[in-house]
Amino acid sequence: MSNYTEPQNPIGTVCELFAGVGGFRIGLSRSGWKTSFSNQWEPSTKAQHASSVYSARFGDEGHTNEDIAVVLDEYISGKREIPKTTMVVGGFPCQDYSVAKTLSSSAGLKGKKGVLWWEILRLVEANRPPIVFLENVDRLLKSPASQRGRDFAIMLASMSDAGYFVEWRVVNAAEYGFPQRRKRVFIVAKDLSVFGVPQNAEPASFLDSESTIAKALPVEAIPTGSLVSEFRLEGDLADLTENFDIGGKLSPFKKSGYMVNRHVFTADVIAREQGLGNLGSVLLPEEDVPSEYFVPEDQLANWKYLKGAKREERTHTASGTKYFYAEGSMAFPDLQSNPSRTILTGEGGSSASRFKHIIQTNDGRYRRLVPVELERLNGFPDNWTSTGLNGEAISDVKRAFFMGNALVVGIVEKIGFQLSKDWIEVKGEKNVL
Ligand SMILES: C[S@@+](CC[C@H](N)C(=O)[O-])C[C@H]1O[C@@H](n2cnc3c(N)ncnc32)[C@H](O)[C@@H]1O
Repeated sequence: MSNYTEPQNPIGTVCELFAGVGGFRIGLSRSGWKTSFSNQWEPSTKAQHASSVYSARFGDEGHTNEDIAVVLDEYISGKREIPKTTMVVGGFPCQDYSVAKTLSSSAGLKGKKGVLWWEILRLVEANRPPIVFLENVDRLLKSPASQRGRDFAIMLASMSDAGYFVEWRVVNAAEYGFPQRRKRVFIVAKDLSVFGVPQNAEPASFLDSESTIAKALPVEAIPTGSLVSEFRLEGDLADLTENFDIGGKLSPFKKSGYMVNRHVFTADVIAREQGLGNLGSVLLPEEDVPSEYFVPEDQLANWKYLKGAKREERTHTASGTKYFYAEGSMAFPDLQSNPSRTILTGEGGSSASRFKHIIQTNDGRYRRLVPVELERLNGFPDNWTSTGLNGEAISDVKRAFFMGNALVVGIVEKIGFQLSKDWIEVKGEKNVL
């Protein structure tokens, strides 16, 4: 658990928003970055367990446990400090980023309250970090269903208007040798006034070899003749809200892309596989697994039913209407020779579930995964989440929840390493910020 060291001679500094239990910070410290400010606040509970774990592992210095909206209100009105850093990073929720006409014209108010993208943008506009590095679910590229890609278009346009170049890629961690299939969109933005417009950028070669993310996570060359789509994001944020891809069935944003001055280039790319990781590699010896993790015989049928294919008549509780419910089967048990499925926030707890992992041990019994195994699937040090401040024990259900919210640290480390090269190149020397 003490497997964390702050870099002694950092490449640059980081502000970590929506910090959870610190996945970005661990990955970035391994690639030479020092986190000097962090914020984590869980709106749905009084107890602040994630923040408590964060402070217990990294220390309190520069950490805040308050609603980011409140922190930024106070910062922008001059009541508190947030240091300027080389990078602002964070994993933030996929929400509705629409902007109404009336709102777009009123100063400082860009979209609906509580939408956390606007908080990131407020900090970016106030502090102008040279680099912004974000993570989100891949659904961000496709939402909402009525206007595929609208929310991402609004996000890109607002970064363009703030003077940033943006690149993105949907990455499945398993394709880069990690033991979990976890597909997330990673977004890297750079201040154009610091980095300039990428030179000699032929769209296909930029996306398959020259972008920061392509250098960090190699992809196969985009075959000659395959399409790099190109379009402009027209109008203000309210215009995009009203007009972007109305009724479109498919999002125009593909798995990878970049945007410069509202001009978007996007193409699907295929990961150059680095050998597949596997679930078996993270498992504890059976004798170290507490007995409550083994599924009792009398509950196995329920697990099998939930994991199985079904097509059955059900009745809608409120209206009494009958309907057919159908779904395919899930692997039962999970294969230890393959990368695991994605950890979801509901992974913890003993109740049977379609989505929790379940493996079969050598003696034929079935069991769920323990928190340390979930931590390993994300590349966190063992027992990272076991205690909070003052040694308070964190429940297994919470620990699983944290890992469902977190990210694969090794992906952040790889992108962070390439960003350190980019930053050294642009500044010509270390320790500038
Ligand atoms: C997807 S998780 C990020 C997890 C993180 N990357 C990690 O490695 O653990 C988003 C986090 O944002 C926090 N959050 C949600 N609303 C917030 C707010 N208004 N202010 C600050 N943090 C907030 C949540 O509690 C959650 O921990």
